[in-house]
Amino acid sequence: MDRPTAVIVLAAGNGTRMKSKLSKVLHPVCGRSMIGHVLTAALTVDPEYVVAVVGHGRDEVGPHVRQTAPGALLAVQESQDGTGHAVRVGLDALSAVAGSPEGTVVVMAGDTPLMEGSTIAALVAEHGSAGRAVTVLTGEVPDPHGYGRIIRDEHDGVAAIVEEKDADPQQAAVREINSGVFAFDGAFLADALTRITNDNAKGEYYLTDVVGLARAGGRPVGAFRIDDVMQTEGANDRAQLAGLGAELNRRILTRWMREGVTITDPATTWVDADVVLAPDVTLLPGVQLLGATVVAEDAVIGPDCTLKDVEVGAGARVVRTHGELAVIGERANVGPFSYLRPGTYLGADGKIGTFVETKNARIADRAKVPHLSYVGDAEIGEGSNIGAGTIFANYDGVAKHRTTVGREARTGSNNTFVAPVRIGDGAVTGGGTVVRRDVPPGALAVSAGQQRHLEEWVLRKRPGSAAAEAAAAALATGDGEPAPAGGTSHPAAPEVASETHSERQSGEPQPPIA
Ligand code: UD1
Ligand code: CA
Repeated sequence: MDRPTAVIVLAAGNGTRMKSKLSKVLHPVCGRSMIGHVLTAALTVDPEYVVAVVGHGRDEVGPHVRQTAPGALLAVQESQDGTGHAVRVGLDALSAVAGSPEGTVVVMAGDTPLMEGSTIAALVAEHGSAGRAVTVLTGEVPDPHGYGRIIRDEHDGVAAIVEEKDADPQQAAVREINSGVFAFDGAFLADALTRITNDNAKGEYYLTDVVGLARAGGRPVGAFRIDDVMQTEGANDRAQLAGLGAELNRRILTRWMREGVTITDPATTWVDADVVLAPDVTLLPGVQLLGATVVAEDAVIGPDCTLKDVEVGAGARVVRTHGELAVIGERANVGPFSYLRPGTYLGADGKIGTFVETKNARIADRAKVPHLSYVGDAEIGEGSNIGAGTIFANYDGVAKHRTTVGREARTGSNNTFVAPVRIGDGAVTGGGTVVRRDVPPGALAVSAGQQRHLEEWVLRKRPGSAAAEAAAAALATGDGEPAPAGGTSHPAAPEVASETHSERQSGEPQPPIA
């Protein structure tokens, strides 16, 4: 296949029917903008130049084009005087850097997100081998409404493309339509565009009139007809956008299933165009994999997860989780009901469990945060276990600070780590501990006050209550005698320390000081 000189992408129209502040071609479909899909297809044929014709919304569209196709030339069409005028503006920009165009010039519309690179490549190959002035990509659609119709001559050659508004009833009945994608002989195109007029129903310069000029000049014109007509469809309103999005998603899922990915319920699974999945990945119902998410083999995701720009390691298990810009290690467990915010890194065999929120947190191999916790701006060393209900208090109201937990630490339930603070390797904290100072390696940290008992307080203050009766019965049989003053022999082991927690519960009536 000869390398096209240029691909010109038309994106100056305003897309009125989208009724949007956002330019039509910037509306997202399966994780890329519409024009992003078109540019990606264009780049697969390796053109020497990519030219984007921008107009409406050019301040957003231009930089976006440059991001997707670095080095793309931007041509500004000040007023939208038709597709023929737009291509001329594009060619002017091309000529300014590359001289008058020789070779093949491809024209595409910016709003056909299903267009595939392989189709453009096939179009270019057919065009080149046939030595034509114009090859138009066509398809036969059930309802040709709104499209230019392909008018064939008696030898089945392309005689003309007639726009809907200019078509007579016989022409209007034709179901073979102009996709808006063309391969041109560049030199012919440049000349022909100086000769088209706007003498038509719309008062616009039609690119499609170039076909008639080629015929009149005895230059060959051909059509490249594809069966997969959805590739040629543009989205003009949001209903069409949703329809094309669903179809593109279906195609992406089919491709991954053919590559060895198990998808239990394609109807509720959404995978963006740039996601990468390994064989033997399993996606359970209700999964959305977005952005640049990558999933390694044997990982099982779902049900009900949304992961955007997340890297999931081999054999990991992720259940009912919302994650963004996070890394999940091999064989790690996440969820159900976990919220992984940007900067979360979970090592191999680690765990982020139920109702746990993480942010800027590096949780090393085999480390676990199993329940009901907030882990922000934190480092947790290998093999450490964070107790249920732990808050890494990273924000003092002015600035954010980090907390470091060393290796093989065991922290108790209902702890608060007031950053900046460091908990040493192998250290332990009691239940309800508020850590405000660094804990040395191997130390047990406790901060809760001693547990006190006001004996038989309930019997005195709540006589006749169910609680008082239960307590009286227990005391009469000697069951549940309170432990001797001073507590047990392990005053601050996590389990025991968690009893001191009851003393702090503000919802409970506070006994009077004796
Ligand atoms: C055009 C074709 C029609 C084809 C259809 C396919 C012409 C005259 N008609 O019609 O045969 O079936 O596409 O979708 O070419 N644009 C500009 N500047 C302009 C006008 C348009 O950049 O002055 C861009 C638009 O942003 C869009 C593309 O060109 O990306 C097509 O324009 P649109 O107005 O949608 O053309 P249609 O009337 O649909
Ligand atoms: Ca259109």
